[in-house]
Amino acid sequence: MPKRPATIAIPALKAIDPGAGPIGRQLTHRLREAIATGALKPGERLPSTRMLASSLGIARGTVVEAFDQLRAEGYLDTKVGAGTRVVAALAGTLPPRPAERSARPPAAAAPLPPAAARLAAIGRALAPQPFAPFAIAMPGPGITPDDNWRRLGNRVRASARAAPSGYADPLGLTELREAVAGHVRRARAVDCTAENVIVTSGTQQGLYMAGRVLLSPGDAVWAENPAYAGLTAVLDDLGLRTHRVPVDEQGFSVGEGMAICPAARAAFVTPSHQYPLGMPLSMARRQALVAWAERNGTWIVEDDYDSELRYAGHPFPAMQGLSPERVVYLGTFSKVLFPSLRLGYVVAPTRLVEAFAGARALLDRHSPTADQHVLAAYMREGLFEAHVRRIRGLYAERRAALIAALEPALPQGCAIQPSDQGMHILLWLPESADDVRIAARAEAAGLVMRPISPMYAGATGRPGLMLGFGGFTPDRLRQAAGVLGRLLQAEVP
Ligand SMILES: Cc1ncc(COP(=O)(O)O)c(C=O)c1O
Repeated sequence: MPKRPATIAIPALKAIDPGAGPIGRQLTHRLREAIATGALKPGERLPSTRMLASSLGIARGTVVEAFDQLRAEGYLDTKVGAGTRVVAALAGTLPPRPAERSARPPAAAAPLPPAAARLAAIGRALAPQPFAPFAIAMPGPGITPDDNWRRLGNRVRASARAAPSGYADPLGLTELREAVAGHVRRARAVDCTAENVIVTSGTQQGLYMAGRVLLSPGDAVWAENPAYAGLTAVLDDLGLRTHRVPVDEQGFSVGEGMAICPAARAAFVTPSHQYPLGMPLSMARRQALVAWAERNGTWIVEDDYDSELRYAGHPFPAMQGLSPERVVYLGTFSKVLFPSLRLGYVVAPTRLVEAFAGARALLDRHSPTADQHVLAAYMREGLFEAHVRRIRGLYAERRAALIAALEPALPQGCAIQPSDQGMHILLWLPESADDVRIAARAEAAGLVMRPISPMYAGATGRPGLMLGFGGFTPDRLRQAAGVLGRLLQAEVP
């Protein structure tokens, strides 16, 4: 090995680190980088292989190989008598050097493409909430996933069938589609077979796919007012003309929808538990909505996001059963199991199923096969139903603890609106209160909640707060209710 000189022939290469992987590959990479960043300029002559090897303290053959590689890639050119140079024709084709880059105005100053700016705002609006009371729709640690889920999951994931070597069906695993069909037939009177079930990565994806499959940009649609922000963002993103239809104590006002926009092509509704207000859609309104869809050949997209979590009385069956050819039904395992599972389903009329497969293939092909196997087994073995029964009891207890602790702590003009279903309650504030500001103040005090007024279109909203209780023990909820009560005493005018 030649004696190592004090200086390196090409300073930008720095010393080669024998511990950082194959030396030849390191050298090739560093030379390539030196050319790309302008440390070695087009037309510049390189030291001889002997000299470079000696300056780096490596074998000459290694440098020869690196030069050969870069010649093959078009970076270097060797001519007899003229040595090896950086290819002159690279001038002007390389990205600017770091110094030139930093001289440019910062990227943030340049306007984003309109779609990027819009999507960045959606990303901020839909960012997950931190885990603190009263975060919404978060099952608590220790509740889900339960021990059965973990045990079964380990066993199923270890099996070869959970990791097939090819792509799987975009419609989902047959066993899971069968289990879901059985569940929604029994629990929600959904009229379907496994053939109508498309496994999704949750209702968010189901809403997006329903919009893609049923509608074209520019189509008019009805959405509830107020509505779930993840829905209105989807409708905007798909270029649809959304008409927000008021909600009263019977739910979505079908008559108002017809008056506002008779030519709507679809209605996006939450009939079993209006989001966020909580009332079910009355039977008369269901009939009217179905009659509208059947008369006009339009569609109803039914978001049934939390009907498993019902604490009193009997829920209305799903609307889908009234008109299986006109209703696209969406369900999710996010509330009843856990949101990071990212599994849900669409139940679609048979003639639309193939289109849903196409929409899914374009998005991400299909959900992970291993998780689908685990969930199918969990449902098949009756563990899912037992789990739902158990958490219903736990959540009912949590809901009662929160209401009991919050009621006496509230200032005048605030009112709790409990609901018999789901994982949140509403707290209405006086008309003059600023729910967005109060939610921000609460966050500074370690509490998390969604203000309700932004869920309404324009300035039609009422101030209120959505308080999730599912993820927190009764004690934790009682303590947080005390903090919220004191905050409201100070903040509510
Ligand atoms: C009304 C409603 N629809 C849909 C969703 C989306 O649920 P996911 O995509 O987790 O299934 C949510 C989530 O909170 C929701 O509240």
